[in-house]
Amino acid sequence: MNTSDNKPRRILFVCLGNICRSPAAEELFRTVVADHGDLDGWIIDSAGIGSWHTGQLPDKRMRIHAARRGYSLRHRARQVSADDFDRFDLIIGMDSGNISDLRELAPTAESMSKIVPMARYFTMATRYDHVPDPYYEGAEGFELVLDLLDNACRNLYSRLS
Ligand code: 4NP
Repeated sequence: MNTSDNKPRRILFVCLGNICRSPAAEELFRTVVADHGDLDGWIIDSAGIGSWHTGQLPDKRMRIHAARRGYSLRHRARQVSADDFDRFDLIIGMDSGNISDLRELAPTAESMSKIVPMARYFTMATRYDHVPDPYYEGAEGFELVLDLLDNACRNLYSRLS
């Protein structure tokens, strides 16, 4: 169900573990929406393909890098489920693995059309066509993720509003 103006306002960000990329995307996007004084009517959440980190706060490295930019990440990890295709209008995957796993999970053809890659919203100059997994990377990997998410979240908001 969309809002009366039929714009998608229930947004779910999905990555593999739900402790690095998608909880950061959730908070950056929520901040863009709040900065426009527009939080009413939005449901913004994140989830992971896997359940390994269920209940955990985001990875400490992600929290530290995000905090340096003024973001406080407090999401508790959860696994994505088939029910999420009813509860959200847009389900945004961070990389091609996430997208194919979400397609496997989608219960109907209609719900399949809710799945979009985050890279669709990149406008910055980058050699990436996805948001790369920073889990086994150093500090630059986390900074790169935040740069890509910052760019994509701003564009996502302007396309939806
Ligand atoms: P995320 O990063 O998908 O951005 O949350 C990862 C976190 C954990 C693992 C992989 C990626 N892991 O294998 O536990």
